[in-house]
Amino acid sequence: MNEKALLSLAYGSTFTEGERAVSFSNLEALLPKFKGGDAWLRQNAAEGKEGFGWMNLPKRSTDEIRTLSRWLATRDSIVQIGIGGSALGNLMLHGALLPPYWNELSNAKRGGPRFFMSDNVDPTDNRAIWDLINPENTAIIVVSKSGSTAETAANFLFFWEKLRDRLGDAAARERIIVVTDKEKGILRPFVDEIGCKSLILPEDVGGRFSVLSCVGLLSAWALGIDCKTLLSGAAAMDESLAKAESVLDNPAWIMAGLSFLHMKKNRNMNVLMPYSDALERFGEWFAQLWGESIGKDGQGSTPVRALGAIDQHSQIQLYTSGPDDKLYTILTVAHGQKDIALPAAQEKAFEKLSYLYGKSMDDLRNFEATATTAALSKAGRPVISLSIPALDAYHLGGLIQFYEYVTGIMGYLMEVNPFDQPGVEQGKDYTYGLMGRSGFEAQAQEVRDLGAKINERTATI
Ligand code: PA5
Repeated sequence: MNEKALLSLAYGSTFTEGERAVSFSNLEALLPKFKGGDAWLRQNAAEGKEGFGWMNLPKRSTDEIRTLSRWLATRDSIVQIGIGGSALGNLMLHGALLPPYWNELSNAKRGGPRFFMSDNVDPTDNRAIWDLINPENTAIIVVSKSGSTAETAANFLFFWEKLRDRLGDAAARERIIVVTDKEKGILRPFVDEIGCKSLILPEDVGGRFSVLSCVGLLSAWALGIDCKTLLSGAAAMDESLAKAESVLDNPAWIMAGLSFLHMKKNRNMNVLMPYSDALERFGEWFAQLWGESIGKDGQGSTPVRALGAIDQHSQIQLYTSGPDDKLYTILTVAHGQKDIALPAAQEKAFEKLSYLYGKSMDDLRNFEATATTAALSKAGRPVISLSIPALDAYHLGGLIQFYEYVTGIMGYLMEVNPFDQPGVEQGKDYTYGLMGRSGFEAQAQEVRDLGAKINERTATI
């Protein structure tokens, strides 16, 4: 693939026949909708409407983020507290662009702070993180768009108290960065009260679309990721998508259209299977983006995370021979970075392995991806082969913008709002009620009522 390309899609095997047929003409017939969706996204983004701001992130100023990241880079460790969209994007960027086993590398090899994510409310994990850091040389970033999420609040209460106990109020305050809305929630008043460092999470950007804002960039830059290039890849993707006139010019329309058409034919699961360990977290980020954005009004396509080649030995049996209820995307990186040439062994017992001798491990991985795509195609399963030329900041930025745009267009096709999350809010409100937060008494009662039904029948062994 041309190194200058942002990505390429091969989708000939997505067209099916029979009762549940999906054809290229079905895709082409969606062109007016694609154009309508594109205009809807761009116009609302230009007007600063809530949820649409991710489209503008590649062009926004990052000076404040960069300045703060320089201070952050001098720390020995960073602990980020946040969950969902306030955590998964960071883990995705780090997983894709930093060397593996980052925290285990020596300082010299790392050249940046160690990074810990405190997302789940798990006492064991949080204690373990605390035990692993030297508070004196650590910075804590707390990220919450709403500024009120219970998990993030609980984890922050834990670290904040520990930090103050160990270092005293003034030194503890120096080590905190708050990333939150400019006024909503409890974190902004906290910033005003104690006077710690903070960044404003743009009002028009939603949690799961925020990776290219201060949410993702702050720690990424501090850890040495080239965020300028990341954003330039996203901007290049946006410009290319904006120019498209026909379906053939726009891989994002193809991806959204195929997802929509297959969903309508009861293939309402969307499997993303990268063949790269570094992209495993990309699958997790995608799962939140896709699931939370389009799972609405009784519709949706369930995101499924898989990882090649591991899941060849776990899920492929189901994928090729189980129910025909999924659309598959096999994601590959054309040129790996640090390949291994497989050595020839001397042992007679290994003679039958000679077909591997001298071959590239990266080629083996990509052949496995091709083999899986072919096996799915042979089984008549719709499969897209998505490839990026290299896994670097530029192409990852492009891929992020691509998937966000695909998700926005998919929401438009389905006539749902891809930028809200009422189902997430419901769970948050029930939790507030159960934990005794004032104003949420009715929610607590509702959970108790529902609990009575749930517990009507039980089985214990
Ligand atoms: O995408 C979303 O809006 C959510 O998944 C949020 O990211 C998640 O609930 C965390 O919310 P907050 O950043 O407000 O703490």
